[in-house]
Amino acid sequence: MKGVILAGGLGSRLLPLTRVTNKHLLPVYDKPMIFYPIEALVDAGIEEILIVTGGDSAGDFLKLLRNGKDFGLKRMHYAYQEGEGGIADALALAEDFAEGQPIAVILGDNIVEKGIATAVAQFRANPVGAQILLKEVHDPQRFGVPEIEGERIVRIIEKPLDPPSNYAVIGVYMYDASVFSIIDGLEPSARGELEITDVNNYYIGQGTMRYSILDGWWTDAGTFDSLLRATNLVAKARGGGAGGSGETG
Ligand code: G1P
Repeated sequence: MKGVILAGGLGSRLLPLTRVTNKHLLPVYDKPMIFYPIEALVDAGIEEILIVTGGDSAGDFLKLLRNGKDFGLKRMHYAYQEGEGGIADALALAEDFAEGQPIAVILGDNIVEKGIATAVAQFRANPVGAQILLKEVHDPQRFGVPEIEGERIVRIIEKPLDPPSNYAVIGVYMYDASVFSIIDGLEPSARGELEITDVNNYYIGQGTMRYSILDGWWTDAGTFDSLLRATNLVAKARGGGAGGSGETG
């Protein structure tokens, strides 16, 4: 299975930190943010990785990561997203790279304590439809939130004011090759973007979405508070820093 890291966007929630660089190049403790999703994919046995980025700092990814040798990769693949079309629009750029194979997708600002190897192995064993990961959080309003009936997700609501559960859909998604025709059929949301939640809801509607609950802490790092939390969690995991108060367990 190939891996795709989505690392575009304006990072506007982190201005002015993102005025002259890309969010995913900012530090999280002792590494640039983008290192963490690369390590998560490599740790899950993925050997070919595409990074989709955009904006004025795209060239800095090449300078930083080169061919991915530091991560044990033979080469790194890059794609450039024009404009701000959203996460699903960025993913559409991975179609040729995927070559009809299933893919593991991770958002460039997601950091996962214990990795994603278990979920990737599950999907690899049965690479049909889609698979997502959930994590219980104290602030579900910030995320895509699943409405769960019994054992089944009936839909995902993006940033709900009144969350139907305390779970976040984390930014790790596994898809079969039909994801690209699903994205082709999407309409932009109210904020003018192609939403990954609409992709996931399509699979749910088809009855082909599976999920598991992530073991270990998870955080995004796209706001001042979550960037600080990410830094503290990573520092604590390395035995340094001041400790963190993120989602544990
Ligand atoms: C995105 C997704 C959201 C998901 C989150 C995870 O939100 O739209 O469904 O829960 O990533 O990090 P964003 O951080 O782009 O607002």
